[in-house]
Formats: sequence, structure tokens, C-alpha cells
Amino acid sequence: MRRIHVIGIGAGDPDQLTLQAVKALRDTDVFFVLDKGEAKADLVELRRDMLRTHVPEGTYRVVRARDPERDRSAGGAAYSPAVEDWRRARADIYERLIAEELGEDETGAFLVWGDPALYDSTLGILEEVLARGTVEFTYDVVPGISSVSALVARHRTGLNRVARPVQITTGRRLAEGFPEGVDDVVVMLDAHQVFRQYADQDIDIYWGACIGTPDEVLVSGPIAEAAPRIERLRAELRERKGWVMDTYLLRRHPKE
Ligand SMILES: C[S@@+](CC[C@H](N)C(=O)[O-])C[C@H]1O[C@@H](n2cnc3c(N)ncnc32)[C@H](O)[C@@H]1O
Repeated sequence: MRRIHVIGIGAGDPDQLTLQAVKALRDTDVFFVLDKGEAKADLVELRRDMLRTHVPEGTYRVVRARDPERDRSAGGAAYSPAVEDWRRARADIYERLIAEELGEDETGAFLVWGDPALYDSTLGILEEVLARGTVEFTYDVVPGISSVSALVARHRTGLNRVARPVQITTGRRLAEGFPEGVDDVVVMLDAHQVFRQYADQDIDIYWGACIGTPDEVLVSGPIAEAAPRIERLRAELRERKGWVMDTYLLRRHPKE
């Protein structure tokens, strides 16, 4: 039976690879690498470096495939259908990779950015491929250090305050309003710096871009004060690299 490891590789710093992840890398015959195009080539390169560092040469194959383009312009009601189309296209690719590139008794692996359990579609897509019933395999998941863990570690703060909840959400959701019932909110996948919407409130931001990489930048403080710096640093990074991955924690102060 074919086997698959879904391996969390951390959010940018090669030292975030866990010992469990290294064991899984060494147990793999075929690595599937999905290419996101020229601009993000360094993300692919990081994965290749990890393999070169931790897995003896000649013991594995790397199979690359082009990640399908996602229609990011689709907003509102069109958002979900666009994501569905993209997932289906990805499932087609995974199905082909597993059926055609992995031998019956071999082990394959997907190297997932951060932790596979957080805003990542790999697990859902593998389930979709299994449900199609065209190729049989088993899979396991190796947790990784997420960008959220990396963010709060770099800011030397906790995610939650004592006995309080914390919510992880997206920029798109934050644009609809500050989540109810929580004062600590982690925001991912925000291309529009939605935190600026809350600059008139008593909220601190702990922001980080390219955390764990040589390009890492961190800013913290009240949103009103931090926002102009974040805007400038983010724009500079984008200009230089062509893309930015940033995450932030918003910490609202309770009203007196
Ligand atoms: C598709 S999600 C993947 C999250 C990933 N599974 C994880 O555990 O961090 C991509 C988002 O993760 C965040 N992210 C990933 N790596 C990051 C990094 N090195 N620095 C800052 N944010 C990062 C950004 O919010 C980005 O928009």
C-alpha cells in the first residue's frame, strides 16, 4: 500500500524542522513539490535545502508539479466557488502524482509550510483524492511550527492572556468586524493590512513578516503608532522580494 507523510516544515527558519519531521523525511522515497512560480521560488529552494541537509543523497526522488493558479480577484459570494475550483484542480494533480509517480510500496511526502493543521489545504485535498477511490494510500501528519507560534515567540509574548480565549482568523474575516467574545486575535492571510481599520481603538499589534527568514521584520505597539511603520516596511519587502507573508496578533485592552 502506498504511504504518504504530510510533513510540517516550519514557517521559514530551517532550524524549525522537528526531529520527528527529519525522521519522516528520511523515511520518504518521493517528495512532491508544488511550484508556485518564479516569485516564490525561494520557498521551493528552502525545501530543497532541507532535503540536502537532512536526507542522504541518492535515497529519494523529487517530483515537481505546477500549482494551479487561484483566482484571487473573486471576492464576496464568488470567493468559495473560486476556492473550490482551485482545490479540485489541486486534487487532480495530487491524484496523478500519487498514482503515477509513487510505486505501490513506496512512501511519498508533501512538505507543508508551517503546520499542516493551520490554513493549509493539503489534508482536505488528500481526503478528496481518497474519496474519489481511484488510488489507495494511507497518510500520517507530522506537526510543524506554525507562523503563529513563530510570531509570538519572536515577540516574546503569549497567544492568550490568563484564562482568556484567543481566535485565529483571516484578514478577510477581520474586515467584516472585530470577532465577538475575544480580545486576542491572530490574523493570517491579510493582503490588505486590515488592522488599519482599528487604528482608532485601544489595541496593540504584534506584527511580523517573513518570520524566521533573513528578511524577517517585526513591529509592535499601539496600532495607530505602529501602522505607518508596518506599511512602509511591508511595501519595501514587497518591492524587493515580490511577495510578503505576514501575520499579526491584535490585543485589545479591556474598557475601564
Ligand atoms: C496559507 S497560510 C499557511 C499557514 C501555515 N500552515 C502555518 O502554519 O503558518 C499562509 C499565511 O501564513 C502566514 N505565514 C506563513 N509563513 C509566515 C512567515 N514566515 N512570516 C509571517 N507570516 C507567515 C501568513 O499570514 C500567510 O498569509
